[in-house]
Amino acid sequence: MNCVDVKLFMKRVGKILNLVAIIALWGLTAAFKLVDEDRNATQPTKSEAKQTIPDLTGAWRVDIQQSDGVVIPTYFILRQSGNIIDGTVSIKATVDLPIRNPRWEDGDFLFGTDWNISYRLHPKDEGYTVTINYGNGLEKGQAFRIPEVEAVSPKALPIPGLVNVPSNGAAKTPPMGWSSWNHFGNRVDDAIVRKAVDALVGSGLARLGYVYINIDDCWQGNRDAEGNIVPNKKFPDMKGLADYIHSKGLKLGIYSSPGPRTCGGYEGSYGHEEQDAKTYAAWGIDYLKYDWCSAQRMYSNSQVRAVYQKMGEALAKAGRPIVYSLCEYGIDGVWKWGQKVGGNLWRTGYDINDSWKRMAEIGFNQDQYSSYVGPGHWNDPDMLEVGNGGMTDTEYRTHFSLWCLLAAPLLAGNDLNTMSPETLRILGNQEALAIDQDPLGKAAAPVIKVGDIQIWVRDLHDGSKAVGIFNLGDVLRKGTLNLPDIKVNGKQKIRDLWLHRDLGKFTSKFDYEVPSHGVVFMKITKSYLAKKR
Ligand code: GLA
Repeated sequence: MNCVDVKLFMKRVGKILNLVAIIALWGLTAAFKLVDEDRNATQPTKSEAKQTIPDLTGAWRVDIQQSDGVVIPTYFILRQSGNIIDGTVSIKATVDLPIRNPRWEDGDFLFGTDWNISYRLHPKDEGYTVTINYGNGLEKGQAFRIPEVEAVSPKALPIPGLVNVPSNGAAKTPPMGWSSWNHFGNRVDDAIVRKAVDALVGSGLARLGYVYINIDDCWQGNRDAEGNIVPNKKFPDMKGLADYIHSKGLKLGIYSSPGPRTCGGYEGSYGHEEQDAKTYAAWGIDYLKYDWCSAQRMYSNSQVRAVYQKMGEALAKAGRPIVYSLCEYGIDGVWKWGQKVGGNLWRTGYDINDSWKRMAEIGFNQDQYSSYVGPGHWNDPDMLEVGNGGMTDTEYRTHFSLWCLLAAPLLAGNDLNTMSPETLRILGNQEALAIDQDPLGKAAAPVIKVGDIQIWVRDLHDGSKAVGIFNLGDVLRKGTLNLPDIKVNGKQKIRDLWLHRDLGKFTSKFDYEVPSHGVVFMKITKSYLAKKR
């Protein structure tokens, strides 16, 4: 190739390279455009997101399908101004709470509540997929718009003028039995209840007085065309279950609310009080726990008594003695009027859980109500947690001793089929049970509180006293109880109710040693009385 040929060759190569470069550039630009379009479709930039944020203002309903076939609604009422959103959530249509920390994340709308429950709304079709995080589990449903009037609380019903409902003559001593709630929660079903019945009988606890088998929340289905409450599919035959329980010499308890919804979001007795009382009687129900729950959406605290009286009167007319358990967490000083609405027991506060902290917080603060109890009407510091695993056996003995001293209802809340021998020994301690069931029906009060030590004393029908020396602290404590300080004078016989042993005779002083979170639970009887027996 000569010099001219080389130049010509280079020129041609240059043209070809230019063409290739132009094509490559065009290709790249097109590709980038595609990627960019794709990114826009799923991930708006901040400024684009601002423009496309939908207006959530209005009322929304999320239906959550439960495994028992029941659909439980939750409502949101939201107000949006630009990016700022405020509003309320009506959790399971039971309690209205303001939404907290509302925010957008990846195109989803999130908010929390003062309870440990949070919500995530993810856009889908015309509405949103909602994930509800209860802290101990998730639920998913679809939110759709509804008229606001459907999301607000139904109206309060007319309430009766106050009267005294005559006593039903039941619960002369604090009710004893088992309840499904503390261990099984919303999993309760017919098989679990029957197994509890068999375990109560098989373990010997039924013979010691544990006779009530109480189905707590989550048994309800919907109402039939006549408005009668129908159990959900987990309880195919409530009357058959009651017959089975009665055939074992036991009694059946059930649960409802004066509001439209129970605390779990199930059907309550709102507007169906008499009808439900009759249904319970027809099934053979012996005990009703009536839980305030959604009634708080429509009634004020000063109306609680009249609202409970309404069901008290309905039960009185139902044609069957039904123990009436008021569960309204102590609102409006229920201990002062619970008996007047026909109540046999009433919760004095909010829920227990299976921890030393909560049990002790409830149990050691019951002294303010102790003077209100007596045969047929009892303070209820809540159901037992003994055997559920969150406390040590020492702590469960303290829990049980305190409940016996308080003349509290003893509703075992554990799985009776898997309980340890020690749990059975605690629940089955006959000497402790005799204190709880003492016919005088007085509740203990703390006579001494010094540092970590609290000494609670209960008068018994035979003139003797039940005494609990409790150590609330973290280390073992030793000390001396001056018997005259708890109004005990003269020679006394002291019996340890956990060791099941007489500790001897004492005239003025008793030396004790109590482990951390433990108790010395004893019966003190005047020596001459003890001899007579
Ligand atoms: C309330 C009551 C509990 C239990 C649950 C059931 O929290 O206080 O004892 O009955 O409702 O939902």
